[in-house]
Amino acid sequence: MIARITELKDHVGKDVTIQGWMYNKRGNGKLYFLQLRDGFGMTQGVVVADDVSAETADIAEKLTAESSVRVTGTVSQHPKKEDVFELQVKDIEVIQMCQDEYPISKKEHGVEFLLDNRHLWLRSSKEWATQRVRNTLINATYEYLNGDGFTKIDSPILTPNACEGTTELFDIDYFEQGKAYLSQSGQLYLEAAIFSLGRVFDFGPVFRAEKSKTRRHLTEFWMMDAEGAFVEHQENMDIQEGLVKHMVKSVLEKNKKDLEILERDTAPLEKVVNEPFLCKTHAEVVAELQGMGSDIKENHDLGADDETMLMEKYDVPMFIEKYPAEVKAFYMKRDPQDETRALCSDLLAPEGYGEVIGGSQREDDYDTLLERIREHNLPEKEFQWYLDLRKYGSVPHSGFGYGLERIVTWVCGRKHVRSAIPFPRTIYRITP
Ligand code: 4AD
Ligand code: MG
Repeated sequence: MIARITELKDHVGKDVTIQGWMYNKRGNGKLYFLQLRDGFGMTQGVVVADDVSAETADIAEKLTAESSVRVTGTVSQHPKKEDVFELQVKDIEVIQMCQDEYPISKKEHGVEFLLDNRHLWLRSSKEWATQRVRNTLINATYEYLNGDGFTKIDSPILTPNACEGTTELFDIDYFEQGKAYLSQSGQLYLEAAIFSLGRVFDFGPVFRAEKSKTRRHLTEFWMMDAEGAFVEHQENMDIQEGLVKHMVKSVLEKNKKDLEILERDTAPLEKVVNEPFLCKTHAEVVAELQGMGSDIKENHDLGADDETMLMEKYDVPMFIEKYPAEVKAFYMKRDPQDETRALCSDLLAPEGYGEVIGGSQREDDYDTLLERIREHNLPEKEFQWYLDLRKYGSVPHSGFGYGLERIVTWVCGRKHVRSAIPFPRTIYRITP
């Protein structure tokens, strides 16, 4: 009977066949310990040479790392560990024996080498665990937002205009129509969709031709944008807090083993679930950063270094609200208490991780929005449909977008966003 490694616990004492790969081997002529993985889990196959056929013992001796196999044996519980199950091997069928030495071994490899071999590196246990956490974070997002009345709706990737800023656009020739751009965020389209569905979200790849070389920037990454009619600035942050708590809680519940493989300290993650998020204004944070030695000015955006320095101090996420309007996007509504400030927030992750979500209340007045589009030198014609939304039943509304890889990197406790995406694209890398 074919079984998944995750199902071994249900077959103790019985014979099963697992199909997968041998990723590591210890042992000598008499006894071999085969580390096996099948995509679902990992286990150990114990081969006692005297108990198996000469042919099987020979295969165990010759089996090379990453060869594909079907291994049949009796399931047993680990003598010391309660939730670990092994296979007392009876037979090994080789599907393909690797003839060349597998390039990735247990020894330390440079990160460029690993990235060149990303197609193989993905099999390594930390990469495997990271992708499993990513999967949980995606599902938890759907769960939470669906539960709060948000409908998933998809935004286009090919667009005629910029969402976040014209300097970061990838352009392509689009038939007779001239230039088209790869989407930076589906937000503007979601704003149209709220007038149909009330609360909506999208999830898809977005593109930024950013020259940034930090450990937080990719040129292609996955964004989830959410948008709600009648949602104002404070409620926008409340939704984000509820969502992030649910995402982290789901990972703590469903990815225990993965977090162990990642050697992730879970105490800070527990705090994210159980403690309220912090909220400070941009002005307060600037003063705090200046006190810590940063040269940030009152009307500056926070740099990556500022975010790191600030968030190394905190162990729960923090909203920074009300940035100077001049450093933020054209669509943000201004704070009625202080017109120089935007009704926006960035959510910064603790442990030095920095911005994971950007959001704001949107400008809902036709004339004001038109003025902003002109101030930002954006092509008025391409934004006519967006302006229409302020002409036909305009309502106060807000939304936010998260960068999936930023959240994965933080929750997994990894250093660089490129570890969070299966095939990273940065300014230096588009292969494999
Ligand atoms: O802050 P950003 O630019 O906000 C928007 O695009 C809004 N339109 C979203 C909205 O309101 N619907 O991007 C949102 C998030 C950031 O907080 C960050 O997590 C991530 O996207 N992000 C990146 N992640 C990886 N690489 C990059 N180059 C990123 N740029 C932004
Ligand atoms: Mg941002």
